[in-house]
Amino acid sequence: MTRRILVTSALPYANGSIHLGHLLEYIQTDIWVAFQKMQGNEVYYVCADDTHGTPVMLRAEKEGITPEALIARVSEEHQRDFSGFSVRFDHYHSTNAPENKTLCENIYRSLRSNELIEKREVEQFYDPVKAMFLPDRFIKGECPKCGAKDQYGDSCEACGATYQPTELKNAYSSVSGAAPIRKSSEHYFFKLSDARCEAFLRQWTQGEDRLQPEAANKMKEWLGEEGSAKLADWDISRDAPYFGFEIPDAPGKYFYVWLDAPVGYLASFTALAQGLKLNTDDFFKADSPCEMVHFIGKDILYFHALFWPAMLKFSGMRTPTRINAHGFLTVDGAKMSKSRGTFITADSYLQQGMNPEWLRYYFAAKLNSTMEDLDLNFQDFTARVNSDLVGKFVNIASRSAGFLSKRFDGVLADVTQNPLLQTIKTGAPAIAGFYEQREFGKAIREIMALTDQVNAYVDQNKPWELARQTGQDTQLQEVCTVCLEAFRLLSIYLKPVLPALVAKVEALFNITSLNWSDLGRSLGAGHRVSPFTHLMQRVEASQIAALIQANTDTLLAAAPTEKTQGKNTQKSSEKKAEKPKPAEQAAPAHIGIEEFAKVDLRMGKVLECKRVEGSTKLLQLSVDLGEAEPRNIFSGISAHYSPEQMTGKMVIVVANLAPRKMKFGISQGMVLCASPNDDTSLFVLTADSGALPGMKVS
Ligand code: MSP
Ligand code: ZN
Repeated sequence: MTRRILVTSALPYANGSIHLGHLLEYIQTDIWVAFQKMQGNEVYYVCADDTHGTPVMLRAEKEGITPEALIARVSEEHQRDFSGFSVRFDHYHSTNAPENKTLCENIYRSLRSNELIEKREVEQFYDPVKAMFLPDRFIKGECPKCGAKDQYGDSCEACGATYQPTELKNAYSSVSGAAPIRKSSEHYFFKLSDARCEAFLRQWTQGEDRLQPEAANKMKEWLGEEGSAKLADWDISRDAPYFGFEIPDAPGKYFYVWLDAPVGYLASFTALAQGLKLNTDDFFKADSPCEMVHFIGKDILYFHALFWPAMLKFSGMRTPTRINAHGFLTVDGAKMSKSRGTFITADSYLQQGMNPEWLRYYFAAKLNSTMEDLDLNFQDFTARVNSDLVGKFVNIASRSAGFLSKRFDGVLADVTQNPLLQTIKTGAPAIAGFYEQREFGKAIREIMALTDQVNAYVDQNKPWELARQTGQDTQLQEVCTVCLEAFRLLSIYLKPVLPALVAKVEALFNITSLNWSDLGRSLGAGHRVSPFTHLMQRVEASQIAALIQANTDTLLAAAPTEKTQGKNTQKSSEKKAEKPKPAEQAAPAHIGIEEFAKVDLRMGKVLECKRVEGSTKLLQLSVDLGEAEPRNIFSGISAHYSPEQMTGKMVIVVANLAPRKMKFGISQGMVLCASPNDDTSLFVLTADSGALPGMKVS
C-alpha cells in the first residue's frame, strides 16, 4: 500500500548560516525521504526559515534594513546551501507567510474556545532606552559568584556558575547598554497544566512508537509522577516591538516565535498543496490516515514532544505520527569551535570544492536511530570516503566498464543467472529495513559487505588478465557485465545517500531514474552502456586543512559566545530559544577594524614560569602587562616550551579575554602562538627588541 507521508526537518533560524551540524539533520531527513520515494510512497518533504523573534528584529535594525529584507536574503542563502548538498525539499517556505498567520490564528482561537488560554501579569526585564522587554540573552552583567564581567543572564563563562538574570551585578542591556528595569505587563499563556493536557501528554508520549525510547523516558521525567502536575503553563505572547504575528483581539501582543515556528510545518505544506492541488485536510484532520514525521535535534525535543502535540490536539487536528530526534554533531571529538576552525559552514565546505556527497556518505555511514552525538573525525572521514566509497564502490565500475566499451562497444552479455547478482539482490529487505528505521550506518555496512564480495569476484576473475589472453572474449564480456550489473544494483541501494553520483551511474547505463523496483529487473544482453567517465575524486588532506583554515577565527574565539548547546535539555522551555547559539553568531568572513579593536592585545614579559602538576599540556606563567599586578596565565605550550625557555620572554597577550576558570586556577589572559592545524609544532609570538610590557599591539 502506498503510504502518504508529510516529512519535516526543523526550521533553521533566519539569523544564522547553515553549518555542518544543521546538515546532519537535513541530510539525514533527505536520505529517509529519498528512500521512501524510491519505494513508490507519496512523500512531501517541507521546511521553512524560522523568521520571527527579537534577534531577527534587532539584527535587521543593526543592518539598517527591514526584517523582511533580512529574512529574504537569508532564505536565499539557506536554500542555496541546502541544494548544494542535494537536500531536496518539495517546498521551502517562511514562517512569516500568510498561510502561517491564518493557521496560527485558527489554532489560537481553538485553544481559546477550549479554555486553554489565560492572561496573567508577568514581570520582566525592560530596556528603558530602547523601550522594549528584553529576552534573557540580551541581558549581561557581572557574575554574582566570581565577578567576571560581561556574562550572560543565565550562566558564567568564567566560573561556570548558573543563576537567574536578576542575580547579575551591574546588569545592562546588550542592546542599548542601559541598566534594565523590572516592568510588568500582561502575557498570554497556553494552560499546559490543565488536567486534560497532562492526561493527553502522558498517554501520547508513551504510546505507539511515536518517540524513541530515550525520548519517551525523558518525557516521563519531565511529566513527573502522575498527579504531581509538573507542567508549567507556557507563555506564548511577547510585547511590541516584536517581529511576529499579532495575537487576535490583543493589540500590541505577538505570538512568541516558538508558537508559530512548528505551525510553519503546516504552512509550508499548505503552500505546497495549493500548487499540487492536494487537500490539506487529508493530512491535517484529527483522524488522518496520512503520516506526519518530524526530524529534529535533541535540543528541541521539549517543543516537539509536549507543546506541539498539545497545540494540535486541542485545536482539533492530527498529532505527529513520529518524532525522530538525533544527537549533535561534534568535530574531531569536540563541540564545533570557531577557534579550532571546526565551526564549519555549509558554504565554506562547498567553496573549497569539496564533494557534498562525501559528507552525505560519511553521515550515513555513522548514523543510527538514537539520540547519540555523532563525531566528524577528519581522519575517519578521509579513510571512509577514499577506501570504502571510492576504493571499493566506485572502483568496481572503473575496473570493468573500460573493457566493455573498448572491446565490446559497451554491449552487455547475458548474466541473469549469475549467483553473485542473486546474492546482492537478497540483501534488499535487510537494507530497506535499515533505511526505514533510520539505521543508516547498518544499511551502509550491509551494502559495503556486498561490495566486498563484488571486489572479491573481480580479484578471482581478473578481467585484466582475460583481456590479455586470446580466445577469452566471451568470458571477459561476461565478467565485466557481472561487475557492472552488480554496480548498478549497489547503486540502487546507495541512491538515497548519493543522488548526484547515482545520476552519473544512470547516465553511464543510459537509463532513467533508478528505483527500488529496478532490483527486480536486469538490463539484459545487448543493452549498451556509455563510455566510462570519471565518477568521483578522492579526498585530499590539503582540502581538509584548507577547510579548517577557512573557518578559523582565532580572534572571535575568545569571545564568550560558544555557550553550551543542548548540554542539559532544559525544563524551562523558554531558555533554549533565548540562548545565544553558535548558528546565530556565525562569523562574517571579514571583520571591520572596530571588531579587531575590541581585542586588547598587549606586550607582556614572562616573570615566572612553571609546570602544572597533573597537566601534560599546561605551563603556568606569571606575566607582567605593565599593570599593578602580574597576570596568572595558563598556556597549553608545555609540549613545545620548557619553563626555562619561557622565563624572561616577551609575549603577546590577549588582555581582555574573560577570565577563565580551569582545573588548576583562573587564567587571566591568553598567550598568542602560531601553529599548524595538527598542532604538531607551536611557536610563541614575540616582538622585536625594545617592546615593553603593557605596550598595545595593533
Ligand atoms: N528554529 C528552531 C527550530 C524550530 S522547528 C519548529 C531551531 N533552529 S536551529 O537553526 O537552531 O536548528 C535547526 C535544527 O538543526 C535543529 O533541529 C537543531 O537541533 C539542529 N542542529 C543545530 N546545530 C546542530 C548540531 N551541531 N548538530 C546536530 N544538529 C544541530 O532550533
Ligand atoms: Zn563567574
